[in-house]
Amino acid sequence: MVLNSGDAPTRGTDTDPTALARQFNHLDPAIAEGAYETLGTIRRGCPVARSGELDGFVLITGYDEIREVAQAPDRFSAYVDGLGAAAVVTEMREAIAPMFETDDQHHHQWRRALTDFFTPAAAAAQEQYVRAICRETLQGLIPRGAADLVASYTQQVPPLVIGRVLGLAELERAWLSEHVRALYAADTLTEAHQIGRVYADFLLGQIRERRGHPGRDLLSCMVTVEADGRTASEDELVKMTMLMVAAGHLTTADACATAILRLLEDPVLRERTAGDAELLGLFVEELVRHEPAVTATGRTVTADTQLGGIPLSAGDRLLLAWGSANRDERHFDDGEVFRLDRERSRTPHLGWGTGEHRCLGRHLARVELRVMLEELLRALPDFRLQPDATARRTFGVTRGVAALPVQWSRR
Ligand code: HEM
Repeated sequence: MVLNSGDAPTRGTDTDPTALARQFNHLDPAIAEGAYETLGTIRRGCPVARSGELDGFVLITGYDEIREVAQAPDRFSAYVDGLGAAAVVTEMREAIAPMFETDDQHHHQWRRALTDFFTPAAAAAQEQYVRAICRETLQGLIPRGAADLVASYTQQVPPLVIGRVLGLAELERAWLSEHVRALYAADTLTEAHQIGRVYADFLLGQIRERRGHPGRDLLSCMVTVEADGRTASEDELVKMTMLMVAAGHLTTADACATAILRLLEDPVLRERTAGDAELLGLFVEELVRHEPAVTATGRTVTADTQLGGIPLSAGDRLLLAWGSANRDERHFDDGEVFRLDRERSRTPHLGWGTGEHRCLGRHLARVELRVMLEELLRALPDFRLQPDATARRTFGVTRGVAALPVQWSRR
């Protein structure tokens, strides 16, 4: 399923921001390497601009404009037809996923019901499990001396963690992990749909089991939540669970891969952060500012309005480029530069979003990323890129790295 790609050469040299915006398509493989240069040119020239790609949408690249949209759910709905985060779901496309795609009271009721599973304390309670699966995975890798860390590590841990939060038993977590990795690695849409259908049936089984006998896990909670006087339908629940798994898996796997690539590119940073949990925490936060794993999500304009002086019509689809906001020169000095000791500016970065839909899983993501990096640096202290290997960044619904072929001294 081609959601991200970094395989194609970068696009031409057009520097007219309006023209660049006009042809901007975040799913186009050609933009991966130079994505932030392109977005920077567009942002400085036209922070609200129309793209003619993907049936037309409005690309928002400026910090103030993105924040305004995300903080005004009455003017900008989280339900977006065919654009944004829901593009990662293959099945149940006609259903509207509670919380992710809903607004106002309905959204509040859902979000309030799920909050307990995502508090800092709930995230901390997962740390031991995260560490245990990191160690087990890395123990298996050490004797091999070489591996692609994306396939063998960054994509292995997060699906097991979100599976556990949902309340799946160990074998079911392993099933989930294998199938979601296969789903997002599928080369064709037909293959993705085939895996997607099996995956949807599996989730439906889990949902039905919990309808009869709800437990104390996240999925049971989702099955029993009442909003607007009713519980969610099976289709809504399957779509929502697929989005929840994607939110927990794709983001963290991609963020971890980007973090590892940065450590490979910057030996001083690597030396400073190895064994220092607090610095690793700062590293993760600056990484989420500089190259957030969630690159762009969408909104729909609910009534004719204006944004940054540009008229928008009801029904216009907007794409919020979170990573571009985080480099906006109006708010961040040298925003294009990754800096571990960046002074926390008064402007919070938007890598976790803002407003009503701000990332619910951010505490969990922080724990996962810190522990995954801590354990990797401990287990494979001299990992390095294999000779002649290059690691290509990807860009799409999420930002990551296609593969990290590395080697290390066998012990
Ligand atoms: C580095 C990792 C992550 C990043 C950068 C990230 C980023 C984001 C962003 C930007 C949004 C807002 C989207 C919008 O307003 O349109 C969001 C929403 C969300 N994220 Fe994350 N996320 C990450 C990890 C996670 C994890 C591990 C989970 C756990 C399940 C999670 C769960 C969610 C949920 C449930 C929402 C939707 C909240 C709502 O609609 O009210 N995220 N995330």
